[in-house]
Amino acid sequence: MSQHLTVVKHPLVTHKLTLMRKSETSTASFRRLLREISLLLAYEVTRDLELTNIRIDTPLKPIDAPVLEGKKLALVSILRAGNGLMDGILELIPAARIGFVGLYRDPETLQPVEYYCKLPNLLEERMTIVVDPMLATGNSSVAALDLVKRKGAKNICFVCLLASPEGVARMKEAHPDVPIVTASLDEGLDEHGYIVPGLGDAGDRMFGTK
Ligand code: URA
Repeated sequence: MSQHLTVVKHPLVTHKLTLMRKSETSTASFRRLLREISLLLAYEVTRDLELTNIRIDTPLKPIDAPVLEGKKLALVSILRAGNGLMDGILELIPAARIGFVGLYRDPETLQPVEYYCKLPNLLEERMTIVVDPMLATGNSSVAALDLVKRKGAKNICFVCLLASPEGVARMKEAHPDVPIVTASLDEGLDEHGYIVPGLGDAGDRMFGTK
């Protein structure tokens, strides 16, 4: 992927995102829409995967036909909201290896602190897709990418539903080699670090918590 930021402008993505933003959208609909959009974002993020030919027999004749090359992909979810995006992507890439990164924000320093990290092995040989619906300040995304890089990942993409200009700039500064795929670049952040206009707290809306 040559660009640092790709905003997927497909009408299906845009339409479903508008439904997700509406405050009256139910938890069940929010989850379903997120899964549907994640399939479309997965299609975009995997567009440049390398293929290699293998010999197969069709019912009519043997042919050389393309399949994905290299080790299985790795999907890394930033807990907890990342899981909603991950579930949809997994439907398209069911053999992917899965990792989780858990971070909380220290109330004093406001910096992300790791509380959980379990990543697949051989990340250096895999394409690694890190997912979090909201790229807001970028602090937790940058920290998660630090962790996957420390574990060896080199070929990394970041997929989110919404991005803020502040988050994109922070990611570009810290991880210029990691392309970002998103469904929308929103206006900015409010004083609490929420994306505006955004959709509220993605985790709460997805899991029905407050
Ligand atoms: N996390 C969310 O869930 N929503 C935002 O707007 C920002 C961060």
